[in-house]
Amino acid sequence: MSTLVTGIAELVTNDPSRGTGPLGLIADAAVVVVDGAIAWTGPRRRAPAADASIDVGGRAVVPGFVDSHTHLVFAGDRAAEFEARVSGARYDGGGIAATVAATRSACDDTLRSRLRGLVAEMRRQGTTTTEVKSGYGLTVEDEARCLRLAAEVTAETTFLGAHVVPAEYAGRREDYVALVTGPMLAACAPFARWIDVFCEPASPHAFDGDAARAVLEAGLTRGLQPRVHANQLSAGPGVRLAVELGAASVDHCTHLTDADVDALADGSTVATLLPGAEFSTRSPYPDARRLLSAGVPVALATDCNPGTSFTSSMPFCIALAVREMGMTPAEALWAATAGGAAALRRPDVGHLGPGARADLAVLDAPSHRYLAYRPGVPLARALAPDDSGPPTDP
Ligand code: NIG
Ligand code: FE
Repeated sequence: MSTLVTGIAELVTNDPSRGTGPLGLIADAAVVVVDGAIAWTGPRRRAPAADASIDVGGRAVVPGFVDSHTHLVFAGDRAAEFEARVSGARYDGGGIAATVAATRSACDDTLRSRLRGLVAEMRRQGTTTTEVKSGYGLTVEDEARCLRLAAEVTAETTFLGAHVVPAEYAGRREDYVALVTGPMLAACAPFARWIDVFCEPASPHAFDGDAARAVLEAGLTRGLQPRVHANQLSAGPGVRLAVELGAASVDHCTHLTDADVDALADGSTVATLLPGAEFSTRSPYPDARRLLSAGVPVALATDCNPGTSFTSSMPFCIALAVREMGMTPAEALWAATAGGAAALRRPDVGHLGPGARADLAVLDAPSHRYLAYRPGVPLARALAPDDSGPPTDP
């Protein structure tokens, strides 16, 4: 079954060989989808025939957003913590304990319905690939449970048992690291592709460079690939550790030394920036321009979680990146699509070349620039390959 998508005022392929500029733009374009994959892209006038067709009515079509950093398995909320920050309270990771308590006492169905609701909310805003971390269970059983639920909705599951030291291990950090690298990892590995750690010596709740190394190396021996939360609250060892271990991505990167930027530029690790966290914690935004100028690949993700970034909106993150972080609209869109795909080492998503998954997002706008130009307006939605109606149908 082939489907021809027409009425595309601007197609973003993210393939410079297929169109104009780094985004590979094609005006008045068409796409042919066969069995869930892109079979053809190009100018409408040259489009081949297909079994069915969809006219998107003069809108822009972009690769579906790849949200490479989320924490969607949780219960409860932390609206009061957010309100306290608005009045001047500082974020140091301490609030994570409240979500851990709520998550542990929630049943599977409660966690599952929140998780699925958030994934659906993301899809309605154009996100077609979502990574999901554990990290609010912090017992062997609860971490494995959270990852089992996450694996129901995505292949991109990340074991984050080393999120913070839970209350019952207060003063026994080494014992907790032994639990994470031993029985917890053994129970979680079957459900996880990635392993992550909150490497933040500036937080009394998180982990220093030595503990982070132990966690990531233990994961590697079990076949889990590393990604790291680092340099969110201060410049620490996390970025250089991530690069040294060949992590796919190091996330936050809010406080970077020149040595961190040099290491990223010389390595293969993507710098994933999470401006929703800076928005919610009222922190300085990361300097994307500094990274891009050094040649570092940059991704944007939501960090959707109940504490520091309760947004599921990639367009919101794009708008923040353009307004506050020195990115052009094209760079921000690339980071939210191809950048996220690189951060997850997924060659099949984040672009619309032949063979890619047919993950299309339609914008209720003629150009990708509108994502930042019209902030807060729900322009994007995912278009399933077998959709039969125009994107504005109720
Ligand atoms: O990415 N930094 C650590 N982890 C999350 C926050 C989780 C929370 O506060 O609940 C983050 O911002
Ligand atoms: Fe996070």
